[in-house]
Amino acid sequence: MHQMKKLIAANWKMNKAVPEAVSAAEELKKLVKNAKNAEVVVCPPFTALEAVGKELKKSNIKLGAQNMHFEGSGAYTGDISPLMLKSIGCEYVILGHSERREFFKEDDMLINKKVASALSHKLKPILCVGENLEERNRHWTQEVLEKQLNNCLQNVTKKQMKNVTIAYEPVWAISRGDPNHKAATSKDAEEGHALIRNFLSIIFDRKTAENTRIIYGGSMKPENAKDLLSRKGIDGGLVGNASLNAKSFAEIVKAAEN
Ligand code: PGA
Repeated sequence: MHQMKKLIAANWKMNKAVPEAVSAAEELKKLVKNAKNAEVVVCPPFTALEAVGKELKKSNIKLGAQNMHFEGSGAYTGDISPLMLKSIGCEYVILGHSERREFFKEDDMLINKKVASALSHKLKPILCVGENLEERNRHWTQEVLEKQLNNCLQNVTKKQMKNVTIAYEPVWAISRGDPNHKAATSKDAEEGHALIRNFLSIIFDRKTAENTRIIYGGSMKPENAKDLLSRKGIDGGLVGNASLNAKSFAEIVKAAEN
């Protein structure tokens, strides 16, 4: 039976200046201090990473970044390297988020370089994949997921997959800041996860697929977290809007604990 510790990651996106980020981390630290069955990760914007990392030292919450460059250093104005993330205690990095793909034209080839670089720098990538509304309406979901996984995981070994988390984020279900945005139904999410796991068993093998953590992202909130997280093959959540409030994020962590 496929069983693993659930991962609940907060994606704060471009929100919270340093003081606000630190006080959210301080509040969250208290709220989830007893969480044992779920792994909790917070991904603040770059400017707040170091301060939040300090606040979370000696807590059970891990630090993640929202993006990175694939090179260790160099003339890449405005970018942040994996070495910089490592130096301030980051353990995770979100890669290939649909907002990076859509607004910054990141493609699978670039994301693949980032995944490889993260792994070689001992950062754990949370690789986001997901179909948009048009693709879904055209019944292309499976094709899109397979293409993204195939391209973004080129040259990643079975052994390295132990450190990779896949986030299934149907683009049409991401809230973009609207708390009332519709999430995928838990059945839709379960189906997406099954497609992903099945394809991972084709590109790697069954065991690797079974042991890969696949988390759901797209309007996960306290009201639907329990339902989503109880579905087969949903190993956690990548939470945007509902993670901005420490209490609501902590409720999602609680839902993952049970
Ligand atoms: P959301 O965002 O929870 O606000 O839908 C999720 C994400 O984009 O990671």
